[in-house]
Amino acid sequence: MQKLEMIYEGKAKKVYRTDNPDLFWVEYKDDATAFNGQKKGTIDNKGIVNNKVSALFFELLESKGIPTHFVKLVNDREMIVKALEIIKVEVVVRNIVAGSLAKRVGLPEGTILPKTVLEYYYKDDALGDPLINASHIAALDLATPEQMELIKETALQVNEIMRDYLAPANIDLIDYKLEFGVHKGEVILGDEISPDTCRFWDKTTKEKLDKDRFRRDLGNVEGAYQEVLRRLSLA
Ligand code: TMP
Repeated sequence: MQKLEMIYEGKAKKVYRTDNPDLFWVEYKDDATAFNGQKKGTIDNKGIVNNKVSALFFELLESKGIPTHFVKLVNDREMIVKALEIIKVEVVVRNIVAGSLAKRVGLPEGTILPKTVLEYYYKDDALGDPLINASHIAALDLATPEQMELIKETALQVNEIMRDYLAPANIDLIDYKLEFGVHKGEVILGDEISPDTCRFWDKTTKEKLDKDRFRRDLGNVEGAYQEVLRRLSLA
């Protein structure tokens, strides 16, 4: 397969066309941003960790019957994925209160939610990805009600699968963000699943093993990313 011209550069990834119109070539970068791009930096080898961790999760999910865009790894930083028409809704699933939910509802970080919380954000950088609900999604025609039903069910299935997989690695899945897209008429899971897009806490010490170390200047950012990859590679 041939890597052709770059068609998109995001904050953390570059996407290239290939000689197969059904497939894209994704390169994971070490660049890190937070707060909608206001904070910028680099996390050494982040691209390698996120590429490998995403591949591990996508393979796990595929093995449990969840369709994803993942096709194969090319090398440490690059993977081949199915070409998606991205649905402009970011889906956040929360098991434990952290981040923006702590601010929104006034509960301390670490509070266990008695029921899993599902949130939708409008994927629009210029607007700062605002929180939206199902009726906004319908009114803006971002996805059909049938697509949203499937997305919701899939996001909750992913939660069970990931929690079970992370438990033996002594990691709690606090929350995470998923993106979906349409490939040949089918809604499938896209983007990445990594320490950039999930909150992972050590079960015992509650140490943060994710991008919050960068967002909040907690130090040892690279070490935390490597630790997640190490624990998952052993799982
Ligand atoms: P939040 O608490 O800041 O709303 O984040 C919830 C989850 O979503 C957390 O695991 C980090 C992830 N996330 C992204 O992947 N991209 C983003 O732009 C934001 C704001 C959060």
